Amino acid sequence: MRVSPNENGTTGRAHASFAGAAMMDTRSPKITRREFARFLVDSAVVSLAVPLGALTGCASRVLGLPSQLKPLVPSRDDAFVVAPGYTAREFIRWGDRLNAKERFGYNNDFVAFVKINETEAWMWVNHEYVVPGFVSGDWELRRTKAQVDEEMKNVGGSLLRVRRENGRWTWRDPKERHRRLDAFTKIPFAGGVKIQDSAHAVGTLANCAGGVTPWGTFLSCEENTDQFFGDRKRGKRTYLFPKNDMGWSRHYDHPPEHYGWVVEITPEPFAAKKLVSLGRFAHESATVARARDGRCVVYSGDDDNDRCLYKFVSQDKDSLERGTLYVANTERGEWIALNKENPALAHFKDDLEILTYAREAAIAAGGTPLDRPEDVEIHPHTGAVFVSLTNNKPKGRPYGSILKLEAEGGDHASLRFSSQNFLMGGEASGIACPDNLCFDEHGNLWVTTDISGKDIGTPDYAVFGNNGLFVVPTTGSKAGKSVRIAQAPVDAELTGPCFAPDGKSLFVAVQHPGETSTNVQSATSHWPDGGQSLARPAIMEIMWTSL
Ligand code: FEO
Ligand code: CA
Ligand code: CA
Repeated sequence: MRVSPNENGTTGRAHASFAGAAMMDTRSPKITRREFARFLVDSAVVSLAVPLGALTGCASRVLGLPSQLKPLVPSRDDAFVVAPGYTAREFIRWGDRLNAKERFGYNNDFVAFVKINETEAWMWVNHEYVVPGFVSGDWELRRTKAQVDEEMKNVGGSLLRVRRENGRWTWRDPKERHRRLDAFTKIPFAGGVKIQDSAHAVGTLANCAGGVTPWGTFLSCEENTDQFFGDRKRGKRTYLFPKNDMGWSRHYDHPPEHYGWVVEITPEPFAAKKLVSLGRFAHESATVARARDGRCVVYSGDDDNDRCLYKFVSQDKDSLERGTLYVANTERGEWIALNKENPALAHFKDDLEILTYAREAAIAAGGTPLDRPEDVEIHPHTGAVFVSLTNNKPKGRPYGSILKLEAEGGDHASLRFSSQNFLMGGEASGIACPDNLCFDEHGNLWVTTDISGKDIGTPDYAVFGNNGLFVVPTTGSKAGKSVRIAQAPVDAELTGPCFAPDGKSLFVAVQHPGETSTNVQSATSHWPDGGQSLARPAIMEIMWTSL
């Protein structure tokens, strides 16, 4: 999700309904011919690492890259478009009925798979937040309980039992084994821990990116939870709400400290728990690696201006319930422990208080403020850790960058690392506001962008068109140069890029199409059905058709 500092400098989405954003003319491209020419020169046909399948005539077997890619030209079209050589189809959309009681939620974000066998898998999809006008019809912000209840059913996540059938993936399941988490689901805190005197939270929300564990569970990250139930300074009674909060707290008095955690989901038997050990902040992602000695290491960004990058090192090899949380000091190349053994945190009562207010602890301990650290991915060949830094507009860095970290000795448990910029956002790289990441098996980095809806098409961002999906080589002379493979419809960002378990297709989520709309009559997007239809988030499956 894109997060924009609002006028007060607090964290908050530039949500049209709540921030009072003016309606934009989204169909009036402002890209000049000169800018287009410059962009096309920068991103002209690029040679990339080519999968072996392509060279041996097995092109249709594995999603890959043509040896010469022709990038999409940026545009402002209200369409999901893919580059020549690829095709795409809708996989599932908001509102699809999963079983007798539950539907696929709104604003699909993180996508992940856990393989069951050669043709079946569990698929997890996060549902981050809602656009009230589209979901509950509340364009006037009346915030009735019925409207809020409808919205609360549309966040959380969907567990889908998917299978490959007749050459394509389907989520249709005669046994209806799909399940949902939403803002009403009772979820315990792991290890019997009590937060605000309760052993469980009511619901999960703001579910952004996530991860998958080696033992086949999903990690779902609660990100901008303050917009649902506020936040609170340590030891204070008063709740703090961003300017554009969702208004759910008018009907539900849930403690802010019950949200902002990483939720671990077991597909079968279906179960969920909130992992207190990984700390509480605006978790963007939870990317898991194995340390040399077999312990698990989980990397996570805290998506806001001047917030930090974290990693957690588990005590056990098959559980994330116990371990140590660290924050990165990127200037010194050090991971700093966030616990009572750190003298800089003597003013915290205990480890639980440090984890609950991890943002405050991170800065106090010497964590380096970064430019909205979002998704983290690990290079499949080198083990280098890539971190999206989406932007920091107040600091004059509107296009973001991708940071590359290399652990000392190549061990993810090491407390020392080196770092360097891998990619600078801007016209030269062709990317603005990098957000979600994934690698293919050849080491090419796939990147989705998150230019906020209110910024798309404005002078600073016009050359980039709508948000997109890019592939970026990580080695060779074109390392760091992007090729636009897919483009999102109006106002949307593409999230959750994830390769199918068989590697034959790439799934991406189309999130918040038409988000800057202020009423249904003049909605800015009608994707995917067109005409005057209601815009709907959906998951798209991208396949490779030719060289
Ligand atoms: Fe939910 Fe920071 O994106
Ligand atoms: Ca985002
Ligand atoms: Ca994101």
